[in-house]
Amino acid sequence: MTDATCITLASRPHGAPMAENFKLETRSLPEPGEGEFLVRIIWLSLDPYMRGRMDDVKSYADPVAIGGIMEGGAVGEVMVSNNAKFGVGDIVTAQFGWTSHAISDGTNVRKIDPSVAPIATALGVLGMPGITAWVGLNEIAEAQGGETIVVSAATGAVGSMVGQLAKAKGMRVIGVAGGADKCAFATAELGYDHCLDHRAMDAKALSAEIKQAAPGGVDVYFENVGGKTLEAVMSCMNTGGRIAVCGAISWYSGKGIDTAQPLPAVWRNILTRRLRVQGFIIFDHFHLMGQFQREVGPLVGNGAIKVKESVAEGLENAPEAFMQLLQGGNFGKQLVRVGPDPT
Ligand SMILES: NC(=O)c1ccc[n+]([C@@H]2O[C@H](COP(=O)([O-])OP(=O)(O)OC[C@H]3O[C@@H](n4cnc5c(N)ncnc54)[C@H](OP(=O)(O)O)[C@@H]3O)[C@@H](O)[C@H]2O)c1
Repeated sequence: MTDATCITLASRPHGAPMAENFKLETRSLPEPGEGEFLVRIIWLSLDPYMRGRMDDVKSYADPVAIGGIMEGGAVGEVMVSNNAKFGVGDIVTAQFGWTSHAISDGTNVRKIDPSVAPIATALGVLGMPGITAWVGLNEIAEAQGGETIVVSAATGAVGSMVGQLAKAKGMRVIGVAGGADKCAFATAELGYDHCLDHRAMDAKALSAEIKQAAPGGVDVYFENVGGKTLEAVMSCMNTGGRIAVCGAISWYSGKGIDTAQPLPAVWRNILTRRLRVQGFIIFDHFHLMGQFQREVGPLVGNGAIKVKESVAEGLENAPEAFMQLLQGGNFGKQLVRVGPDPT
């Protein structure tokens, strides 16, 4: 038997999640059965979509049940194995959840080669956020060199990758991020041509700044946030422009949604129901993971793609880090170090 520390959903949030919505628990795991293996979690990924899983509403994925372990992608080490495909010491990634240990039968588990890049990148630039950026830019927005793109949440896990890939294509790249430090990092380190601080201005001023940074108009908007930034970008779009609706984080906790004014709900539906503008959910594109990793893995390995991470120490600090993430408290990919990294 192994005692696993885990974070469960204690209650559903009304608005922004609070500490009381989470519970730190210890649960006993059985010995791995035939074909199963025990994983010790090293890195846990915190992602905005987890806010949606806390609500009991129909979406593209089922909600976490009250008392259930919070859902999440993680990287871990195989400790005990009765599965011929996964040996002791293998580094693996899957949706293991907010837990220190998990038992798996290998379904939807991917082995990671630690010689390619640090293993935590399997949750960021070489994982779900990375492929989201790559698919959104290439498959959904069909972005082309010479065009102008605006990227919101520009320094985050998805946005920082979109910006760097767009720059490598030869696009004019304009970021929108929260705060002077993030904007300075976007231009100095990530290669953005401009980065505008949405916290420093209202939608009208932001729109004017975008027009100044993009005198030829905006061809592609990589949408991560909704709210004021969406409003500001809309009037800058060129005819025939494309919007890849990846996320709408400013509305995830219900803030800023006026029920008498249905646009936020319509916009959110474009994302979750994959309507044409074009919304997309990356699960539908995971078959491209191999192609993505072959193309982008070497760029991460040789440092051409910069990696920025925020690390919370210890599983017990995951709820606080998640609450911060929803307010822009993270700078780059938000991770939790759950246990020592042997690589
Ligand atoms: N469609 C898909 O399959 C898919 C897959 C992955 C992610 N996503 C979406 O992509 C977006 C980015 O995800 P991520 O993992 O890369 O997160 P992230 O950008 O690393 O972190 C979230 C960021 O959102 C920004 N933000 C938070 N509240 C905001 C507000 N009220 N207004 C404007 N910006 C706000 C903050 O950046 P600033 O401080 O810069 O404002 C914050 O750092 C999210 O909407 C997420 O749901 C979608």
